[in-house]
Amino acid sequence: MNKVKKAVIPAAGLGTRFLPATKAVPKEMLPILDKPTIQYIVEEAIESGIEDILIITSRGKEAIENHFDKAYELEDTLLKKEKHDLLEKVQKTSDINIHYIRQKEPLGLGHAILYAKKFVGDEPFGVMLGDDIVVNRDGAPCLKQMIDIYEKDKASVIGVKQVPDEEVSRYGIVKKTGKETDKASQVDELVEKPPLEEAPSNLAIMGRYVISPRVFELLEKTKPGSGGEIQLTDALNDLAKKESVVAYEFEGIRYDAGDLLGYLKTTVEFALHREDISEDFKKYLENLLNS
Ligand code: UTP
Repeated sequence: MNKVKKAVIPAAGLGTRFLPATKAVPKEMLPILDKPTIQYIVEEAIESGIEDILIITSRGKEAIENHFDKAYELEDTLLKKEKHDLLEKVQKTSDINIHYIRQKEPLGLGHAILYAKKFVGDEPFGVMLGDDIVVNRDGAPCLKQMIDIYEKDKASVIGVKQVPDEEVSRYGIVKKTGKETDKASQVDELVEKPPLEEAPSNLAIMGRYVISPRVFELLEKTKPGSGGEIQLTDALNDLAKKESVVAYEFEGIRYDAGDLLGYLKTTVEFALHREDISEDFKKYLENLLNS
């Protein structure tokens, strides 16, 4: 069985929920505190043992490539000024191989993943959505947990969390076999953004996957589905009929930085966890709420 050494980060969407900010700045580059959203995801990949990352970009997303490029002049200046802490921050992601390909039209997540076919070859691979951050402060990063399940169960793994009824129709929803309390169990069916009355459960797909390369032959045949887009969920539903696919309720908190309210919550919670500013920020919030 192949080890999981490659990950794909789709980041080619239009980011319409953040217009007009995303006219010129990719939504994946919007910062949570002082780091772009996509860097948190790249760091999770590195901490999970990934060696090569393919970022799917599109027209107007050059800032992503520039961000992960080496910044010679900046690094040289920081070195000369002995600003070693800043230099360390700037170089944090410089050891990983990052590759890029452009999705020509935003025809959906499944369509974007199809661009990774050559890069992936015949190996299992991780998929991490470019606007979903997962933090597991006390344990293994989300993707690492899922790679461990892949290696143990020899099955594709879909990262899920329970969501309340009112949020079901915003997500891909998974019907699993096994007990409600099982952390990982076989998937029976996957449906993209079902209305609540048609949803097979409240288990929602949360932007992390480890997938067998067989998904590509299925994606090539996948017709546009929910929202007129080619959906990865539909191809995974086909995959579950041919191979073992497992839903896994990962440890950690998932932040939806691709949605305005989600972005705000992420920023506030990250600020409250940041040692250098958390005390002052807490006081500020308390004063604000009591005024
Ligand atoms: P989203 O639906 O959250 O992204 O897709 P979006 O389409 O950019 O957002 P809105 O709704 O217009 O605000 C989840 C992930 O899949 C990528 C997005 O970049 C995001 O990281 N994606 C989506 C693609 O790469 N290609 C697509 O055609 C669609």
